[in-house]
Amino acid sequence: MKILAPLAMAIAITSLSAPAMAQFQKPEDAVKYRKAAFTVMASHFGRVGAMASGRVPFDPKVAADSAALVETMSKLPWEAFGPGTDKGDTRALPAIWTEQAKWKEGVDKFQAEATKLSAAAKTGNLDAVKTAFGAVGQSCKACHDAYRKE
Ligand code: HEC
Repeated sequence: MKILAPLAMAIAITSLSAPAMAQFQKPEDAVKYRKAAFTVMASHFGRVGAMASGRVPFDPKVAADSAALVETMSKLPWEAFGPGTDKGDTRALPAIWTEQAKWKEGVDKFQAEATKLSAAAKTGNLDAVKTAFGAVGQSCKACHDAYRKE
């Protein structure tokens, strides 16, 4: 039993100090996770977009719910861009890992715009939703142009 105590301690310490990457067993799992997060985010962003462009009648409740989900999802993909996740079934460009400061700037800008969209949708004002939707869309595009393969 005396031998086991230090081992248990070591395990406890390891799990406390585990980096974000340890959330994923394998790099492939991280790639799958971030793609799934983008897919869900894009679906809800699209619902807001349909209303912003007038293709679908404006329903303030649906817009607010979807915008809130976009805001939540906007926090998720980034921890899944850890070391070793630049390979495999991914369209992520190597520049993500060589331009970490610029990448992080793009992430922060996008998250700030997603937060504004959610706030705008809560007001129920369609014009505010349109403006905020456009700004979010631009930050999606800016990042894809720089960091995602065609
Ligand atoms: C800071 C950068 C960045 C921002 C901001 C961003 N994306 Fe992406 N997106 C990526 C990268 C990189 C990939 C490629 C991920 C991969 O293949 O591993 C991606 C992939 C995707 C995919 C494809 C997922 C799949 O299944 O392959 C969709 C859809 C998507 N993004 C939609 C969006 C939408 C919509 C927004 C804005 C609301 C957005 N993204 C904002 C970087 C970004």
